[in-house]
Amino acid sequence: MDALHIGLLGCGVVGGGLLSLLQENGEVLTRRLGQPLQVRRVLVRNLRRQRNLPLPPGVLTTDFEEVLADPRISIVVELMGGTEVARKYALRALRAGKHLVTANKALLALHATELLAEAEARHCMVGFEASVGGGIPILEALATLLAANRIESLHGIINGTTNYILGRMAHDHLPYAAALAAAQGLGYAEPDPTLDVDGTDSAHKIAILARLAFGVDIDFKEISVQGITEVGPDDLRVAARFGYALKLLASATYAEEQLHLSVRPALVPQTAALARIEGPYNAVQIIGNFCGPQLFVGQGAGPRATASAVACDILAIGARLMELAEYPSRRWLGAGAVQQTLARAQAKVSVAPRGAQRGRYLLLVPSGDPPGSAGTAAAGRRFEAGVAEILSRHGIAAPHTEWVAAAAAGEWCYALETEPVVERQVWAGLDALATLESVKAAAKAYRIEPLAVSQTKGSPP
Ligand code: HSE
Repeated sequence: MDALHIGLLGCGVVGGGLLSLLQENGEVLTRRLGQPLQVRRVLVRNLRRQRNLPLPPGVLTTDFEEVLADPRISIVVELMGGTEVARKYALRALRAGKHLVTANKALLALHATELLAEAEARHCMVGFEASVGGGIPILEALATLLAANRIESLHGIINGTTNYILGRMAHDHLPYAAALAAAQGLGYAEPDPTLDVDGTDSAHKIAILARLAFGVDIDFKEISVQGITEVGPDDLRVAARFGYALKLLASATYAEEQLHLSVRPALVPQTAALARIEGPYNAVQIIGNFCGPQLFVGQGAGPRATASAVACDILAIGARLMELAEYPSRRWLGAGAVQQTLARAQAKVSVAPRGAQRGRYLLLVPSGDPPGSAGTAAAGRRFEAGVAEILSRHGIAAPHTEWVAAAAAGEWCYALETEPVVERQVWAGLDALATLESVKAAAKAYRIEPLAVSQTKGSPP
């Protein structure tokens, strides 16, 4: 082989990042690979769009068939996003015997089994390290470097956009819409930020992580998903008063023979490492039964960090292709560890139904009755008694309570930290609280994740 030729599908933010990396680090790549890496074709939607790309003329095309038909292209790099067209092109590339690198978490979360079966049948390699955690080498770590462990739990901040938004709301007291606009201005959010803010992006990523960590098939629909669109600045302030940071947390834990999968805004102690992950940074905390707690932190979004993971996958596949070229009698070296682990993760697992998880919760009950001030102390006490009565009827004990002034003048939040309770009891309690006359708006509950080693019980599969 004189060079390793790739075809790139999509040339948006990450595609542009990859081309910059290939240009800036070309020498490093050539040294590591033992041959140059060349981009033969780049599939784009619009040829007329003004681009400032480090590419020779004639490389851009709007026709996927040109990429597919080019016999010199051995690796197709899918950076288009979306699932329908990406799935079709990825399958066609594999059927044509081309290896695949993708950063597309939705594609993997929804179609991993189909794609990897096709890859296996065609003796093709698939790299997807960039699909979770940007530049953090988390998939390789799970599939190889922690593979001797039973994983007990995995908690992650795996969406940089929402982490940035929550940070601006917490530290700069920005309302949600202003913080989202700032995230978009910095290019963190996906073109359509819905998938970030409604939790879907994190759910795609936890589906991939959980499949690798627990070696089981994950039905994406079974993940309980809640985004950050309902989080208000007061919630973050109240959380801080109780010693917690509010984060969009993706979790996969194994307890009592069931896998609990969720994405939701949750509270972590301010002293926990995850509480200090800010801006576009991602972090994944894994507890394995022998390695104990391990924390992976790094830049989880953005073109450069993501391009790093994509390029490393290209290098890994390129290196194996060189090995094959040296020993032509060996038609197939087998897939890499991450691909194999994901492909084999087909056992069904019992996923706990929504609301079945036990834990402590912080309840926020908005009230127009201020506590304890002259003339209103009685109203405040009546309110507290009404809340306590309803919660106790639903089996919820909440020994730690505080009144916190809301940002809006004259409004208050009565906040209660519960003892461990099953989540669906909390839901029922919240519904019942709505019947109290002086509750100003719907009460909210945030799960508290202690993120301590002792939280995980039971023997994982
Ligand atoms: N929009 C994603 C994020 C990009 O903010 O984390 C990386 O998947």
